[in-house]
Amino acid sequence: MKKIIVAIDGYSSCGKSTIAKALARYAGYKYIDTGAMYRAVGLYCLNHGLMDKETINEDGVRQIIDSLAIGFSLQADGSQHTMLNGEDVENKIRTLEIGDAASRISTIGFVRQALVRQQQRMGDEKGIVMDGRDIGTVVFPKAELKLFLTARPEVRAQRRFLELQQKGQSADFEQVLKETNERDYRDTHRKESPLRQADDAILFDNSELTEEGQMKQIIEIFEKRIAQL
Ligand code: DC
Repeated sequence: MKKIIVAIDGYSSCGKSTIAKALARYAGYKYIDTGAMYRAVGLYCLNHGLMDKETINEDGVRQIIDSLAIGFSLQADGSQHTMLNGEDVENKIRTLEIGDAASRISTIGFVRQALVRQQQRMGDEKGIVMDGRDIGTVVFPKAELKLFLTARPEVRAQRRFLELQQKGQSADFEQVLKETNERDYRDTHRKESPLRQADDAILFDNSELTEEGQMKQIIEIFEKRIAQL
């Protein structure tokens, strides 16, 4: 079967990674979570004094960005853990604090360029599902299938809130909603590769869909696209 590149973009917490992982499993493709890569950079910069809650030392970041080894390691249960310089940082990067650091560090042009180069290399052999904010517009503008996911902010904040609760992290719904709106604003208004739907992407709103319902529709879209090629 012909192997393609599937680019999945959209707002934070709208289920991109759930869909991307499930589609990759269905198709036997590699799955790459590019948000995790920006999160790993944010974690490194916070831990090494290159950024704090308000400021970023851009010159310092520029010096280390190409030396960071960011990758993914496949676990026995089929899940993937994010690796940073040989350390499994999967749990450390999934906090609101690191989400915020990632969102801020991802506004810097040279950070994006470094990560985009790595992401493009990962897609050399196709057979890949990649999710993020600029995959269909910048990383793989020629991807054979592009999806743009969205859901109402309240629905996304509720999902994020439950996720944090399940992980035992304390969270306040109003705070999560506020941060969701702030992140949306920053992701869509930044100068460098703002989040936007590619002209040839299929818009998919999953506010009212169950995980099962949406997967059924996504697989139909995927199969239809493969048949067209
Ligand atoms: O998808 P996520 O919440 O894990 O992403 C964390 C942040 O990284 C998000 O606020 C925006 C940024 N990001 C990006 O700018 N480009 C990508 N391709 C993926 C994520």
